[in-house]
Amino acid sequence: MQTLSQATLPTIRCGMVGFGMIFDETYRPVFETRAHQPLYSPATGPVAVKLAAVASRTGTRAARYLASPAGQSQPFANFAGPDAVARLLESGVDAVCVATPDDRHFAPARAALAAGKHVLIEKPSVLSLTELDELTQLAARQGVLAKVVYHKLADPDHKKLRTLYQDGILQHVNNGYCSLLEPKSISGGQFAEWIAGRNPATYVAVHYLKLIDFSFGPGWRLDRITATGQRGLIGPADGPTWDSVQLQVVYQYPEGREAAFDIHTSWVTPDNFPGYVEQEVQFRFDNAVWNAHQRKRGVELTVENRTPGELKYTPNYHYNGTFLEPWGERTQRGYGIEVIERFFQEVAFVEYGGPPAERPQRLQQMQALTYNDLSADRHCVAIVQALEAILARTAAGVPGCVVKVNSPAGGLVLSEPGNATPQVLYPARV
Ligand SMILES: NC(=O)c1ccc[n+]([C@@H]2O[C@H](COP(=O)([O-])OP(=O)(O)OC[C@H]3O[C@@H](n4cnc5c(N)ncnc54)[C@H](O)[C@@H]3O)[C@@H](O)[C@H]2O)c1
Repeated sequence: MQTLSQATLPTIRCGMVGFGMIFDETYRPVFETRAHQPLYSPATGPVAVKLAAVASRTGTRAARYLASPAGQSQPFANFAGPDAVARLLESGVDAVCVATPDDRHFAPARAALAAGKHVLIEKPSVLSLTELDELTQLAARQGVLAKVVYHKLADPDHKKLRTLYQDGILQHVNNGYCSLLEPKSISGGQFAEWIAGRNPATYVAVHYLKLIDFSFGPGWRLDRITATGQRGLIGPADGPTWDSVQLQVVYQYPEGREAAFDIHTSWVTPDNFPGYVEQEVQFRFDNAVWNAHQRKRGVELTVENRTPGELKYTPNYHYNGTFLEPWGERTQRGYGIEVIERFFQEVAFVEYGGPPAERPQRLQQMQALTYNDLSADRHCVAIVQALEAILARTAAGVPGCVVKVNSPAGGLVLSEPGNATPQVLYPARV
């Protein structure tokens, strides 16, 4: 197949902050594919996407990748250490993807926006509304995109759920549960470096928080948040590091009816559990029930000596898979990859989708996409901030707190059992 000369094409030069598991799973395939096949839309024509620079803590994984055949054919600048992000920003990138641990998103995202770069942040975008305000204001001032990755919104099953709801076939959601259980190898190995003081809900419940908020909103208001959890496996039973968390979020409709959602997360499930990452949801409506199970929607596979380690018993090839296409091509694709490519398509549309004089309108059009714009992440960030405050109070010996949203005392207000004085976590309206 003939390939276009990339040197002559408009190019989005990308900086990657964080080069861990999620880079390998979803960003790497995008960069490897787009090195040979530019993005294309009728508005932009072909636009190349190039991984130009990486910033990480030690630079070791990036160095290993640079030494591989893929890295040698598409080399990039590899920055490590405390000033890695600053050097990446000076190296002339147009867009920055932030895939650092969940409590280290804000600083690199702020630095990138301040330097006038488009930014994509892994979920959870940030951990407080004050941080979110700063990033959205910076993005608006600098005239760039600030987006967050919620790949579950691109899962065909979740797209159908939302379509059925928005079309009035599923009517009025009343309640539901979501469960996502990660294996022990995540807490004990993959994330061991940064897991102290952290919890599994901030990192994965957000997938479902956004799914609920995006699919069933916006005609309701977020009302209150409660949470509890268990400790004792990863860290001490009275410490700040959580094995599993149960979160409850309540919304109110204008007519006074309520909807409640329970979201259970863990990162201490046995490593040989068949699902690897076990995911299940059920939503109940006035006229319907939607039940979805990640493991039970398709393939079951057993290969001697290869499952469940290298290959999974119940793989999700819709999220991410490597394929030999019927037409002979080798590809890696799925909604986890598609959602990253969408960001680059949005950047391409802003920068190359028409005359420069009309850039502000194109920017506004892409900022209005509520599935990924940071300005539409307020409910998720509010819930994460409330959750973290409730878990911190529990670790300090005060379980059972509730956070009310947009009460007369403030936007996010934490009440402790037996204490008449509430604590304002965020004063402005959520
Ligand atoms: N979309 C998803 O389903 C999904 C799945 C996994 C992880 N994630 C998100 O991706 C992010 C990263 O997760 P991961 O699994 O890749 O983690 P990881 O621990 O495998 O990798 C983290 C990377 O960040 C780098 N890093 C750490 N601190 C840094 C700093 N201060 N400055 C620069 N680089 C730094 C590390 O060197 C490493 O390269 C998290 O926010 C997580 O929530 C998303």
